[in-house]
Amino acid sequence: MMNIREMRPEDIDQVLRINEECFTTDAWSRKAFEREFELDYSYPFVLEEDGKIMGYAVVWKVLDDVSIMSFAIDRSLWGKGYGKRLLSFIIEYFKGEAKSITLDVRRSNLRAIRLYKSMGFKIVAERPRYYSDGENAFQMGLELEERDATDKGKTFKASAQ
Ligand SMILES: CC(C)(COP(=O)(O)OP(=O)(O)OC[C@H]1O[C@@H](n2cnc3c(N)ncnc32)[C@H](O)[C@@H]1OP(=O)(O)O)[C@@H](O)C(=O)NCCC(=O)NCCS
Repeated sequence: MMNIREMRPEDIDQVLRINEECFTTDAWSRKAFEREFELDYSYPFVLEEDGKIMGYAVVWKVLDDVSIMSFAIDRSLWGKGYGKRLLSFIIEYFKGEAKSITLDVRRSNLRAIRLYKSMGFKIVAERPRYYSDGENAFQMGLELEERDATDKGKTFKASAQ
């Protein structure tokens, strides 16, 4: 059954493969993913089915803002709604815990921009030459609606220990 859960160290091999396949100039190193487990503001998630990792997201929550730091779906599974599932999960997860979600996306990444727009994100700024190859980034943001406060974030951190 398909499931979204916190990332574990043993997921990193599969996560790295997806990351390297999806990002050329800006791929993360194994160390970078491992470091996320040490950061108390980092929430790394995976989308999996029967042990196969289909996608992942690394999300930081700093004060009232949530930043999507890295987000990708296995290339062979694009266009099947998994990206939307994972993004919807993140939005629900942080409702009531934060005021906004922001991210940076390459100007040319129309597929991702369309996904974010379909979930209500708006382009709030353009960052010139943001990426190492000189491409500009769009900064996109979503204001989260208030919801009755829950302890979801804390539960995640507690169970991750
Ligand atoms: C961006 C990414 C996460 C989308 O994942 P996905 O599973 O393919 O997305 P979904 O199947 O959930 O599609 C969601 C939306 O994306 C858009 N989309 C899907 N296929 C598309 C296509 N062929 N062309 C353009 N837009 C497309 C649509 O808006 C779609 O919504 P709809 O089905 O209601 O029209 C995935 O393509 C990916 O991993 N890309 C490489 C890494 C990346 O760019 N990450 C984001 C960096 S900020």
